[in-house]
Amino acid sequence: MLSPQAHGTHHPHAPTGVQRKAAILVTGAGGEMGHGLLTMLRAHAEVAGDDAPAIVAMDIRELAPEIRECCDHTYVGDICDRAMLERLLAMYEIGEVYHLAALLSTRGEFAPETAHHVNVGGTINMLHLAAEQARTHGRTVKFFFPSSIAAYGMASVAAKRAAGTVGEDEHLDPHTMYGCNKLEGEHLGRYYEFHYRKLAKDRTERPIDFRSIRFPGIISAETVPSGGTSDYGPEMIHAAAAGKPYRCFVRPDSRIPFMTMPEAIDAIVRLMAAPKASLSRSTYNVASFSPSAADFAALVQSTFPGAEISFEPDAGRQSIIDSWPESCDDSAARRDWGWSPSHTLETAFREYLVPRIRERYA
Ligand code: SER
Repeated sequence: MLSPQAHGTHHPHAPTGVQRKAAILVTGAGGEMGHGLLTMLRAHAEVAGDDAPAIVAMDIRELAPEIRECCDHTYVGDICDRAMLERLLAMYEIGEVYHLAALLSTRGEFAPETAHHVNVGGTINMLHLAAEQARTHGRTVKFFFPSSIAAYGMASVAAKRAAGTVGEDEHLDPHTMYGCNKLEGEHLGRYYEFHYRKLAKDRTERPIDFRSIRFPGIISAETVPSGGTSDYGPEMIHAAAAGKPYRCFVRPDSRIPFMTMPEAIDAIVRLMAAPKASLSRSTYNVASFSPSAADFAALVQSTFPGAEISFEPDAGRQSIIDSWPESCDDSAARRDWGWSPSHTLETAFREYLVPRIRERYA
């Protein structure tokens, strides 16, 4: 079912009449990344004024008021519901899709088939919708897909150490359903862009322009993640700021790449704005800092004296972190679309996380 939500203050009316309204569609809008992305899309729309496409957001749950305020129209609905997506297609002329909805790596391991259904089935539905849009309005639909370091899979801690910094095309043997699904999403995006309905007589060439980033663990000062395995990083700092003890579920020597949410949003904006001719691939690594859990804890403890952090590794979640690389080679992103990180771990704490998080828990 497609249920329009009560709207925010900006543009309270759903489109009427036969004219479809130009729109940007964001799925999974209520998640952590949706929060950051919609704030940015709204800021861009304000600059563009009346020419800006409508911002249409959907999520399986009711969206929070601060997210609704960034959107022109919001819907509660399931990306696995094809009939609902058909209705969106009838209402809007969608030129860009940001497909953020997914079940993350920890949650996905409790219900792998459900994760596959949502992560792959939902992605196929969105790619199909984008391709149908392109066919009906005759223009390529830009499609952003957040992939993840979970697409990689290291056989052991020793293999992970030996691999060091990994490039996009190696070690693609994911250990989680989520990782398998993200890797498949990357392939499906490439398929829909270059090969979709290869044998059909009436096929549309390149219906979509698919662009994807393999994100590291993301740390936001505004929101606390849930259902992921990189969550120990953000959880540690949010717990300390809230004056709560934290039991870290991985070993102190665990190391994976992280970045701040503003860096992740900046990466999306840059990749989506890049001229197509400058892109040499569909999926890119991005990198910022790669602390161990102990580095993270030391910085949290020096920032919040008295913070209680203990390490009680959970074997299952530890094995997921041990299968992810400790660092990613982002040279293609730097070369092709000017990616560069804004932070080290220290400046991320000093300039972004600590001031904002202190304010939040004050
Ligand atoms: N942060 C995600 C997770 O932990 C990885 O993309 O599941």
